[in-house]
Amino acid sequence: MEQRKGRRLILFPFPLQGHINPMLELANILHSKGFSIIIIHTNFNSFNMSTHPHFTFHSISDDLSESQAAEKDLLLLLSHLNAKCGEPFRECLAALLSSVTEEPVACLICDPLFDFTQSVAESLKLPRILLRTGGASSTAVYSAFPLLKEKGYIPIQESRLEETVTELSPVKVKDLPPERFFKAAQAFTYDTKFSNGYVFNTFEDLEQHALATIRKEFHIPVFPIGPFHKNFPAASSSSPSLLSQDRSCISWLDTRLPNSVIYVSFGSLAAVNEAQFLEIAWALANSKQPFLWVVRPGLVQGSEWLEPLPSGFIESLNGIGHIVKWAPQKEVLAHQAVGVFWTHNGWNSTLESICEGVPMICIPFFADQMVNARYVSDVWKVGVRLELGIKREEIEAAIRRLMMEKEGEEIRDRVSKLKVMANICLKQGGSSYQALDGLVDHILSLESLFTKLKSQ
Ligand code: UDX
Repeated sequence: MEQRKGRRLILFPFPLQGHINPMLELANILHSKGFSIIIIHTNFNSFNMSTHPHFTFHSISDDLSESQAAEKDLLLLLSHLNAKCGEPFRECLAALLSSVTEEPVACLICDPLFDFTQSVAESLKLPRILLRTGGASSTAVYSAFPLLKEKGYIPIQESRLEETVTELSPVKVKDLPPERFFKAAQAFTYDTKFSNGYVFNTFEDLEQHALATIRKEFHIPVFPIGPFHKNFPAASSSSPSLLSQDRSCISWLDTRLPNSVIYVSFGSLAAVNEAQFLEIAWALANSKQPFLWVVRPGLVQGSEWLEPLPSGFIESLNGIGHIVKWAPQKEVLAHQAVGVFWTHNGWNSTLESICEGVPMICIPFFADQMVNARYVSDVWKVGVRLELGIKREEIEAAIRRLMMEKEGEEIRDRVSKLKVMANICLKQGGSSYQALDGLVDHILSLESLFTKLKSQ
């Protein structure tokens, strides 16, 4: 632990698993650099705070109705949270800033998905840094919306799906999110220019080109200090899980040969229909490879959990498959038995897989996941993207390619090299190490800015 800096930082995560994890990891990193940490969080998706006794937590009442809290459409949920959280957040922040007995606050660090933080921070004259929980490459695609519209790629036309977007090659038209996602992102893309910095959970060697594009576009300091979870000890056990982790999978993995297991998980939000669920089940069973499958409650639309599986399916696997509701994913990916990760390519999952040198089978569902998957398969070449959706023949072929063929070995070599790079960038003198030093200096310089603004 570095010497205490005598400064408080206020962090405000967006309340979804894929956003809470990196924000809390960033909080741990900055705490290890000597800052005191305050987390403001919503009642919605409130998480277990006991794993972070070194932080101070303040909850705000979001007042979502039951139906709003159960909203499956991500953009609608986003709009409910933005409508309900602005005022309670402003009140909480104002109260924290007015406390004179505490250490001074240097700045607010928040998720750009909350669209009111810019105006609230500005009204309180508090500097604001953004944490982008997605990758830089997908962020660069989102900020290219005006260009994509001008060039006629958007609105997306069925007949052009397989076409490469020349200006964003190798991204294809089918990898672009629908226009309503772009429009939702437009507000925060605009606000980004008025923030005091942009933190990314990535590293220069992985996304150099996209990071350069972002620097050019936004003219604010950009700090790629990832991979976060490799940047502080005990990372794997400190992520606040909204679902309880089933640790039986670790002892099950202990009984398996190195690189033999397919780990299957589609993150915290994606959902499949019953037919797709069965297609996945049969592809896994037919592959005859051991598999660890996370079937999150809610993964299968209209089902509680495993009911759609034919009776006798699990028994017929003879122990070759292990199914859990939620896994300690970072530990699973680091386990020597895991040979392939079949993922939806949420940014956290993608980065966690790269950091453990695990090749991927990619089945993106929405938002940034399609761009992440395209980069995995066509830029870094560390995985195979399922181009036809969830079809058992293509899945079985992808498993064979990765687990049995020479191509799989080449892919494993490439992802192992990225793993090494991810470790090097965190070491003294490495790009993320330096960017983190830069971020700490920047935060300290913001505190004097805040003091100056307050006195005006
Ligand atoms: C969402 C979006 O899907 C993603 O595209 C965006 O980049 C972030 O928000 P999510 O679907 O949850 O995220 O996926 P992901 O970004 O991969 O985050 C999931 C997190 O949950 C990871 O940190 C992963 O380690 C963790 N996890 C997942 C578990 O701990 N256990 C599991 O069983 C599955």
